[in-house]
Amino acid sequence: MDQISVSNVSKIYKTGDVDTTALDNVSFSVKKGEFVAIMGPSGSGKSTLMHILGALDTPTSGTYILDGEQVGKLSKDKLAEIRNRKIGFVFQAFNLLPRTTALKNVELPMTYAGVDKDERIKRAEELLKEVGLGDRMDHTSNQLSGGQMQRVAIARALSMNPAIILADEPTGNISSAQSDEIMHIFQNLQKQGHTIVMITHEPSVARWAERVIHIKDGKIEKEEGNGKGRKK
Ligand SMILES: Nc1ncnc2c1ncn2[C@@H]1O[C@H](COP(=O)(O)OP(=O)(O)OP(=O)(O)O)[C@@H](O)[C@H]1O
Ligand SMILES: [Mg+2]
Repeated sequence: MDQISVSNVSKIYKTGDVDTTALDNVSFSVKKGEFVAIMGPSGSGKSTLMHILGALDTPTSGTYILDGEQVGKLSKDKLAEIRNRKIGFVFQAFNLLPRTTALKNVELPMTYAGVDKDERIKRAEELLKEVGLGDRMDHTSNQLSGGQMQRVAIARALSMNPAIILADEPTGNISSAQSDEIMHIFQNLQKQGHTIVMITHEPSVARWAERVIHIKDGKIEKEEGNGKGRKK
């Protein structure tokens, strides 16, 4: 079954007298457990699309169906629940709390969800070990390298064990060796059954995905893929 199904989605931003068509009739779907990359030039609508997929924003027209439910018809409470439990976000700017330890950053979504403290710490420690930061748990964000911050952001995205991981340039601003480490983490997540949608402008990163969707001027330009993911 399609986990994500986007049909004729358009997004028009109105700023003063200017209308910007960020997405123009976009349709595609993603099956459960797929690893999909989205590529396209700056301003082509990638982040806009990601925000819609993550239920952070709504389309101007068209429909978005997530696990069989039309997202535009859901209540605010239900949307908040989906964002917290079903989707893990990895933002390009990491969005970590500064002067706050890696452990506390990873605990945060679980704190919001009311997970018990001992359970929270246990899970956060496990996740940080999984992303190779077992020896950095008590470092604050400003005491970590870019790649390490990105891994904390990934651990945080995984804290509620979301079915879907949405990542906007997860390897932006980090070295290619670190990018490979992050992509290994994503590959393992896919093996565990998570669905991954990742924005990247780097072909070497997109190669890790099974399918690549190219967008340009808010439209899907082409799609490619070998059904398997090329780099194993
Ligand atoms: N809140 C907003 N209000 C008005 N226009 C916006 C808003 N957000 C994005 N846009 C415009 O919509 C278009 C698509 O923006 P978007 O952020 O989706 O691009 P992108 O593909 O993620 O680019 P980049 O690779 O630079 O991150 C751009 O022309 C942008 O200026
Ligand atoms: Mg963007």
